[in-house]
Amino acid sequence: MQNIEIKNLIVNFDILNSENNVVSKKRAIDGVNLSINEGEFVCILGRNGSGKSTLAKCLNALVLPSEGDVIINGMNTKDETKTLDIRKNIGMAFQNPDNQIVASIVEEDIAFGMENLCIDSETMDKRIDEALDSLGIKELRFSVTSKLSGGQKQKVSIAGILAMKSKIIVLDEPTSMIDKNGRKDLLDRVKKLNKEDNITIILISHYIDEISYADRVVVLDKGKIVMDNTPREIVLHKSELENAGITLPYIPNLATRLKEHGKNLKGNEFTVGELCQFLK
Ligand SMILES: Nc1ncnc2c1ncn2[C@@H]1O[C@H](COP(=O)(O)OP(=O)(O)OP(=O)(O)O)[C@@H](O)[C@H]1O
Ligand SMILES: [Mg+2]
Repeated sequence: MQNIEIKNLIVNFDILNSENNVVSKKRAIDGVNLSINEGEFVCILGRNGSGKSTLAKCLNALVLPSEGDVIINGMNTKDETKTLDIRKNIGMAFQNPDNQIVASIVEEDIAFGMENLCIDSETMDKRIDEALDSLGIKELRFSVTSKLSGGQKQKVSIAGILAMKSKIIVLDEPTSMIDKNGRKDLLDRVKKLNKEDNITIILISHYIDEISYADRVVVLDKGKIVMDNTPREIVLHKSELENAGITLPYIPNLATRLKEHGKNLKGNEFTVGELCQFLK
């Protein structure tokens, strides 16, 4: 049973001046408690600077707690002897793919993560093929990474994680450089992995419409969890969302407005199809 346990987590960053002296502290995470079970698809939402990336980096020990604990499958991120094991368990795609691509050719880049896991070359070859195929970018296998677009780089870095077969995947704004159709396609593929292979997905997003892919939505504001509920419940709390700097997705917003005008809707409909039900 894979799971994530975050207990009373506080992260303070040192703010340095030009002489590298600590002039103040910035609290990026302020008392977070969160458990995530195997196979859950969790979307983390929050405005810029709310602590989303910091929280993600705490999961694979890139950032260590100032206070509290982060425990991944029973392993505490503070225990340095477990760092490698933790990173085998959690695959992470960073916000900026340029920080993640290490090799000059796509297939070498995807192989890089697997090399650290001592996987034989035949298996590697097969997994590279599968990972590229599952993201619909098979034709990029021999491409030069520096010539890829931002969106292609994001997909290649996700393919690298898929090839490692991590049971937990953290995607930090994975679609920021991908167009609308590409975003839907990528997230459909991620959802398929989640459902078919029971892979735990933590999706950090700016696009509130992406919450419809998740089983659960966690909203961060100023380093604190301010909401933690299902997507359908979350969208019923328009003013709480707005206080956290988030506006309702288009269709739930329309549904809410129609409901306010006396229409017989729940106000948490997500699709045009659901809206049409009440028009019948
Ligand atoms: N290494 C660091 N040193 C100092 N402050 C930092 C550091 N990393 C993050 N912060 C600060 O911590 C806060 C949370 O940052 P974080 O990157 O986690 O936010 P975020 O929710 O991912 O934002 P965005 O939506 O812009 O990606 C911000 O105020 C940020 O400036
Ligand atoms: Mg971020």
